[in-house]
Amino acid sequence: MALDKKLIVGNWKMNLDTHEASLYLHKLAGLVKVRRDVEVVLAPTILSLQSLSLQVERRQFKLAVQNLYWRDSGPFTGEVSATQLRGVVDYAIIGHSERRHIFHETDKDVRNKVQAALRNGIKPILCIGETASERTYGETKDVIHDQLIGGLANTTSEELSDITIAYEPVWAIGTGKNASPTDVTDAVLAIRSQVKHLYGATAAKAMRVLYGGSVTADSAGGYLSLDSVDGLLVGGASLDAYMFSEIIKKAHKGSDS
Ligand code: PGA
Repeated sequence: MALDKKLIVGNWKMNLDTHEASLYLHKLAGLVKVRRDVEVVLAPTILSLQSLSLQVERRQFKLAVQNLYWRDSGPFTGEVSATQLRGVVDYAIIGHSERRHIFHETDKDVRNKVQAALRNGIKPILCIGETASERTYGETKDVIHDQLIGGLANTTSEELSDITIAYEPVWAIGTGKNASPTDVTDAVLAIRSQVKHLYGATAAKAMRVLYGGSVTADSAGGYLSLDSVDGLLVGGASLDAYMFSEIIKKAHKGSDS
Protein backbone atom coordinates (compact mmCIF):
# COMPACT_ATOMS: atom_id res chain seq x y z
CA MET A 1 0.00 0.00 0.00
CA ALA A 2 1.31 3.42 -0.93
CA LEU A 3 -0.17 5.72 1.70
CA ASP A 4 -1.96 5.23 4.94
CA LYS A 5 -5.07 6.75 3.42
CA LYS A 6 -7.63 4.93 1.31
CA LEU A 7 -9.14 6.67 -1.69
CA ILE A 8 -12.76 5.87 -2.55
CA VAL A 9 -14.03 7.31 -5.84
CA GLY A 10 -17.67 7.26 -6.94
CA ASN A 11 -18.01 7.43 -10.72
CA TRP A 12 -21.63 8.32 -11.49
CA LYS A 13 -21.04 8.06 -15.25
CA MET A 14 -24.00 9.56 -17.20
CA ASN A 15 -26.46 9.30 -14.31
CA LEU A 16 -28.21 11.75 -11.94
CA ASP A 17 -29.34 15.20 -13.10
CA THR A 18 -28.26 18.35 -11.27
CA HIS A 19 -31.16 18.25 -8.83
CA GLU A 20 -30.66 14.55 -8.08
CA ALA A 21 -26.93 15.14 -7.66
CA SER A 22 -27.55 17.85 -5.10
CA LEU A 23 -29.98 15.66 -3.14
CA TYR A 24 -27.50 12.79 -3.26
CA LEU A 25 -24.70 14.96 -1.88
CA HIS A 26 -26.93 16.19 0.93
CA LYS A 27 -27.83 12.60 1.82
CA LEU A 28 -24.27 11.27 1.62
CA ALA A 29 -22.98 14.16 3.75
CA GLY A 30 -25.33 13.03 6.51
CA LEU A 31 -24.18 9.41 6.27
CA VAL A 32 -20.39 9.83 6.14
CA LYS A 33 -18.07 11.24 8.78
CA VAL A 34 -14.84 13.01 7.91
CA ARG A 35 -12.04 10.49 8.51
CA ARG A 36 -8.30 11.07 8.40
CA ASP A 37 -7.67 7.69 6.83
CA VAL A 38 -10.23 7.91 3.99
CA GLU A 39 -10.50 10.35 1.12
CA VAL A 40 -13.81 10.33 -0.74
CA VAL A 41 -14.09 11.65 -4.29
CA LEU A 42 -17.32 12.12 -6.24
CA ALA A 43 -17.35 12.18 -10.04
CA PRO A 44 -20.72 13.50 -11.25
CA THR A 45 -21.51 14.48 -14.84
CA ILE A 46 -19.81 17.68 -15.88
CA LEU A 47 -23.14 19.52 -15.75
CA SER A 48 -23.42 19.11 -11.98
CA LEU A 49 -19.83 19.93 -11.10
CA GLN A 50 -20.19 23.68 -10.75
CA SER A 51 -23.20 23.55 -8.42
CA LEU A 52 -21.80 20.65 -6.38
CA SER A 53 -18.53 22.52 -5.98
CA LEU A 54 -20.46 25.28 -4.21
CA GLN A 55 -22.45 22.83 -2.09
CA VAL A 56 -19.70 20.40 -1.12
CA GLU A 57 -17.76 20.57 2.13
CA ARG A 58 -14.26 19.99 0.76
CA ARG A 59 -12.95 18.50 3.97
CA GLN A 60 -15.57 15.79 3.56
CA PHE A 61 -15.61 15.15 -0.18
CA LYS A 62 -13.51 16.06 -3.19
CA LEU A 63 -14.81 16.31 -6.76
CA ALA A 64 -13.54 14.70 -9.94
CA VAL A 65 -14.38 15.25 -13.57
CA GLN A 66 -15.00 12.08 -15.60
CA ASN A 67 -13.11 13.36 -18.64
CA LEU A 68 -11.52 16.53 -19.99
CA TYR A 69 -9.98 17.82 -23.18
CA TRP A 70 -6.23 18.27 -23.28
CA ARG A 71 -6.01 21.67 -25.01
CA ASP A 72 -6.43 24.60 -22.63
CA SER A 73 -8.77 26.62 -24.89
CA GLY A 74 -9.71 27.08 -28.55
CA PRO A 75 -12.02 25.83 -31.28
CA PHE A 76 -13.00 22.46 -29.80
CA THR A 77 -16.80 22.47 -29.84
CA GLY A 78 -18.37 20.46 -27.07
CA GLU A 79 -15.20 19.98 -25.05
CA VAL A 80 -14.21 21.23 -21.58
CA SER A 81 -10.58 21.91 -20.70
CA ALA A 82 -8.57 21.28 -17.56
CA THR A 83 -7.98 25.04 -17.40
CA GLN A 84 -11.74 25.60 -17.15
CA LEU A 85 -11.98 22.94 -14.46
CA ARG A 86 -9.29 24.48 -12.27
CA GLY A 87 -10.65 25.21 -8.82
CA VAL A 88 -13.81 23.20 -9.51
CA VAL A 89 -12.31 19.70 -9.25
CA ASP A 90 -9.34 18.17 -7.46
CA TYR A 91 -9.21 15.03 -9.58
CA ALA A 92 -9.83 13.91 -13.17
CA ILE A 93 -10.65 10.36 -14.24
CA ILE A 94 -8.62 9.82 -17.40
CA GLY A 95 -8.66 6.94 -19.87
CA HIS A 96 -11.68 5.17 -18.41
CA SER A 97 -12.37 2.04 -20.45
CA GLU A 98 -15.68 3.50 -21.65
CA ARG A 99 -13.73 6.46 -23.08
CA ARG A 100 -11.17 4.15 -24.63
CA HIS A 101 -13.64 1.65 -26.09
CA ILE A 102 -16.78 3.66 -26.91
CA PHE A 103 -15.10 6.97 -27.79
CA HIS A 104 -11.91 5.44 -29.20
CA GLU A 105 -9.47 7.34 -26.99
CA THR A 106 -5.91 6.35 -27.71
CA ASP A 107 -2.92 6.18 -25.37
CA LYS A 108 -1.76 9.44 -26.95
CA ASP A 109 -5.07 11.14 -26.03
CA VAL A 110 -4.77 9.69 -22.55
CA ARG A 111 -1.23 10.96 -22.00
CA ASN A 112 -2.13 14.41 -23.33
CA LYS A 113 -5.02 14.52 -20.87
CA VAL A 114 -2.79 13.39 -18.00
CA GLN A 115 -0.42 16.24 -18.86
CA ALA A 116 -3.26 18.77 -19.20
CA ALA A 117 -4.61 17.82 -15.79
CA LEU A 118 -1.18 18.04 -14.14
CA ARG A 119 -0.31 21.44 -15.62
CA ASN A 120 -3.63 22.74 -14.30
CA GLY A 121 -3.18 21.41 -10.78
CA ILE A 122 -5.69 18.56 -11.17
CA LYS A 123 -4.70 15.06 -10.05
CA PRO A 124 -5.20 12.39 -12.71
CA ILE A 125 -6.77 9.03 -11.92
CA LEU A 126 -5.41 7.03 -14.83
CA CYS A 127 -7.54 3.98 -15.66
CA ILE A 128 -6.02 0.90 -17.21
CA GLY A 129 -7.18 -2.70 -17.66
CA GLU A 130 -7.55 -5.58 -20.06
CA THR A 131 -10.63 -6.72 -22.00
CA ALA A 132 -12.13 -10.20 -21.64
CA SER A 133 -10.41 -11.49 -24.76
CA GLU A 134 -7.03 -10.02 -23.77
CA ARG A 135 -7.44 -11.82 -20.47
CA THR A 136 -8.32 -15.08 -22.22
CA TYR A 137 -5.17 -14.82 -24.31
CA GLY A 138 -3.06 -14.17 -21.21
CA GLU A 139 -2.26 -10.60 -22.25
CA THR A 140 -3.19 -8.80 -19.02
CA LYS A 141 0.38 -7.84 -18.11
CA ASP A 142 1.12 -6.68 -21.66
CA VAL A 143 -1.93 -4.44 -21.63
CA ILE A 144 -0.95 -3.02 -18.25
CA HIS A 145 2.56 -2.43 -19.56
CA ASP A 146 1.40 -0.73 -22.77
CA GLN A 147 -1.27 1.44 -21.15
CA LEU A 148 1.11 2.58 -18.41
CA ILE A 149 3.88 3.41 -20.88
CA GLY A 150 1.31 5.09 -23.14
CA GLY A 151 -0.39 7.10 -20.41
CA LEU A 152 2.71 8.14 -18.49
CA ALA A 153 5.11 8.77 -21.37
CA ASN A 154 5.55 12.50 -20.70
CA THR A 155 5.30 12.33 -16.93
CA THR A 156 8.27 13.18 -14.71
CA SER A 157 8.99 11.40 -11.43
CA GLU A 158 8.01 14.58 -9.51
CA GLU A 159 4.62 14.59 -11.25
CA LEU A 160 4.08 10.93 -10.54
CA SER A 161 3.22 11.54 -6.89
CA ASP A 162 0.04 13.34 -8.02
CA ILE A 163 -1.11 10.43 -10.18
CA THR A 164 -3.32 7.57 -9.08
CA ILE A 165 -3.65 4.42 -11.19
CA ALA A 166 -7.00 2.62 -11.27
CA TYR A 167 -6.80 -1.00 -12.34
CA GLU A 168 -10.17 -1.70 -13.90
CA PRO A 169 -10.42 -4.94 -15.89
CA VAL A 170 -12.92 -4.14 -18.66
CA TRP A 171 -14.69 -7.48 -18.23
CA ALA A 172 -15.50 -6.60 -14.61
CA ILE A 173 -16.94 -3.12 -15.23
CA GLY A 174 -20.70 -2.99 -14.86
CA THR A 175 -20.98 -6.75 -15.38
CA GLY A 176 -21.32 -8.00 -11.82
CA LYS A 177 -18.21 -10.12 -12.43
CA ASN A 178 -15.67 -9.56 -9.70
CA ALA A 179 -11.98 -9.93 -10.23
CA SER A 180 -10.61 -12.34 -7.62
CA PRO A 181 -8.23 -11.05 -4.95
CA THR A 182 -5.46 -12.99 -6.70
CA ASP A 183 -6.26 -11.36 -10.07
CA VAL A 184 -6.19 -7.93 -8.45
CA THR A 185 -3.00 -8.57 -6.48
CA ASP A 186 -1.20 -9.89 -9.57
CA ALA A 187 -2.30 -6.91 -11.66
CA VAL A 188 -1.42 -4.33 -9.03
CA LEU A 189 1.99 -5.92 -8.48
CA ALA A 190 2.53 -5.80 -12.25
CA ILE A 191 1.62 -2.09 -12.19
CA ARG A 192 4.04 -1.36 -9.35
CA SER A 193 6.81 -3.34 -10.99
CA GLN A 194 6.33 -1.41 -14.24
CA VAL A 195 6.36 1.90 -12.36
CA LYS A 196 9.48 0.75 -10.52
CA HIS A 197 11.12 -0.02 -13.83
CA LEU A 198 10.23 3.45 -15.16
CA TYR A 199 10.65 5.61 -12.07
CA GLY A 200 12.43 3.58 -9.35
CA ALA A 201 11.41 1.72 -6.22
CA THR A 202 10.43 4.71 -4.09
CA ALA A 203 8.00 6.03 -6.70
CA ALA A 204 6.50 2.58 -7.19
CA LYS A 205 5.90 2.19 -3.47
CA ALA A 206 4.39 5.65 -3.11
CA MET A 207 2.05 5.32 -6.09
CA ARG A 208 -1.64 5.00 -5.24
CA VAL A 209 -3.32 2.11 -7.02
CA LEU A 210 -7.08 1.52 -6.93
CA TYR A 211 -9.24 -1.40 -8.00
CA GLY A 212 -12.48 -0.88 -9.93
CA GLY A 213 -15.04 -3.24 -11.46
CA SER A 214 -18.44 -4.23 -10.03
CA VAL A 215 -17.43 -3.33 -6.47
CA THR A 216 -20.32 -3.58 -3.99
CA ALA A 217 -20.65 -3.01 -0.25
CA ASP A 218 -20.19 -6.77 0.14
CA SER A 219 -17.04 -7.10 -1.95
CA ALA A 220 -15.38 -3.78 -0.99
CA GLY A 221 -13.84 -5.00 2.27
CA GLY A 222 -12.05 -7.89 0.56
CA TYR A 223 -10.33 -5.61 -1.95
CA LEU A 224 -9.51 -3.00 0.66
CA SER A 225 -7.83 -5.61 2.84
CA LEU A 226 -5.32 -6.39 0.07
CA ASP A 227 -1.98 -4.91 0.96
CA SER A 228 -1.31 -3.66 -2.54
CA VAL A 229 -4.65 -1.84 -3.00
CA ASP A 230 -5.04 1.80 -1.90
CA GLY A 231 -8.72 2.23 -2.64
CA LEU A 232 -11.62 1.68 -5.00
CA LEU A 233 -13.21 3.20 -8.08
CA VAL A 234 -16.91 2.45 -7.76
CA GLY A 235 -19.47 2.87 -10.55
CA GLY A 236 -22.95 1.35 -10.17
CA ALA A 237 -22.79 0.93 -6.39
CA SER A 238 -21.90 4.61 -5.93
CA LEU A 239 -25.24 5.74 -7.36
CA ASP A 240 -27.05 4.92 -4.15
CA ALA A 241 -25.85 7.19 -1.33
CA TYR A 242 -26.52 4.62 1.37
CA MET A 243 -24.72 1.81 -0.47
CA PHE A 244 -21.79 4.10 -1.23
CA SER A 245 -21.59 5.19 2.41
CA GLU A 246 -21.34 1.51 3.39
CA ILE A 247 -18.38 1.11 1.02
CA ILE A 248 -16.73 4.22 2.46
CA LYS A 249 -17.14 2.82 5.98
CA LYS A 250 -15.28 -0.34 4.92
CA ALA A 251 -12.29 1.84 4.07
CA HIS A 252 -12.14 3.28 7.57
CA LYS A 253 -9.97 1.10 9.77
CA GLY A 254 -11.61 1.80 13.09
CA SER A 255 -15.23 1.38 14.16
CA ASP A 256 -18.00 2.18 11.69
CA SER A 257 -19.87 4.42 14.06
P1 PGA B 1 -18.83 -0.51 -11.90
O1 PGA B 1 -18.02 0.64 -12.65
O2 PGA B 1 -18.51 -0.40 -10.44
O3 PGA B 1 -20.28 -0.22 -12.20
O4 PGA B 1 -18.38 -1.81 -12.47
C1 PGA B 1 -16.71 0.92 -12.30
C2 PGA B 1 -16.17 2.00 -13.21
O5 PGA B 1 -16.50 2.00 -14.39
O6 PGA B 1 -15.41 2.86 -12.81
